[in-house]
Amino acid sequence: MAVVTGASGGIGRALARALAGAGARVALIARSQEGLQATAAEVTALGAEALPVAADVADSAAVQAAAREVARWAPGVDLLVHGAGVLTLGPLAELSREDHARTLAINYLGVVEVTRAFLSLLRAGRRKSVVAIGSLAGLVVPPFMGAYAASKFALRAYCHGLRQELAPEGFHVGMVHPGPVATAMTAGRLGGPYYPLPPGVPVLNPDAVAAATLGLIRRRRAEAVVPARLGPLARLGVAAPGVVDRVYRWVMARPGPGTARGSTGD
Ligand SMILES: NC(=O)c1ccc[n+]([C@@H]2O[C@H](COP(=O)([O-])OP(=O)(O)OC[C@H]3O[C@@H](n4cnc5c(N)ncnc54)[C@H](OP(=O)(O)O)[C@@H]3O)[C@@H](O)[C@H]2O)c1
Repeated sequence: MAVVTGASGGIGRALARALAGAGARVALIARSQEGLQATAAEVTALGAEALPVAADVADSAAVQAAAREVARWAPGVDLLVHGAGVLTLGPLAELSREDHARTLAINYLGVVEVTRAFLSLLRAGRRKSVVAIGSLAGLVVPPFMGAYAASKFALRAYCHGLRQELAPEGFHVGMVHPGPVATAMTAGRLGGPYYPLPPGVPVLNPDAVAAATLGLIRRRRAEAVVPARLGPLARLGVAAPGVVDRVYRWVMARPGPGTARGSTGD
């Protein structure tokens, strides 16, 4: 039995479908009742059971209540996937403290809160797997994504710590780092003034991210970059951030669509 946060759309919905296709019962968490019902309909159409649970991951009481509701539905959770997240874009000189706080509250503390709330159910489950959807921006930082990247860097540190601490209990803790994905999060923003896209970086389909995430879960791997071919570039960027700076300075200086000067979104 799996729990997916951020399941009202985008990557979370694709994950719910993929898990249902693999035969799992899926508890779906997000704020939008409507979005959750639509995902639940897709899951049940695939012959699996779904439990939509409306909750804000930044609201501790709501998260605790969601865990209690899931516990009434299933005695244990095999897999918890953290898909809920928000993308904050903009110059760091202009973003407010509230912008940063909200980003951290959902992308980082939301994962901490949900993990804490579901830990006893995960301990009662068979597979003991916890997976977070990070981001390529949680490895290398594009301009105007600093607030978002900071939340994903924090998330990565948390996942590394969690993996080490829970390994003796037989837990798998993994992280997926997708590049740009075509979802509501990026609609009208990709290639815009605050989302420069280097040439050659593909825009993924959410189903591709879901498939890669299922692969990571099956192999109980710690981390995966999606698409995998960007993995070596990400590792280079981590080792030599100056190279990333130069690439983005070049991208921002180029005329045409997908660059700072040619952009329209956000
Ligand atoms: N799209 C990309 O290019 C991309 C790239 C790399 C990583 N990611 C990561 O992938 C994950 C999913 O993103 P997406 O592209 O699928 O975006 P999306 O289509 O906007 O979906 C985001 C999901 O998170 C949920 N959510 C947001 N705030 C929430 C909150 N406070 N409490 C509970 N649920 C909340 C949303 O549901 P409600 O609004 O109904 O609450 C929705 O289900 C995020 O962690 C994102 O950072 C995305």
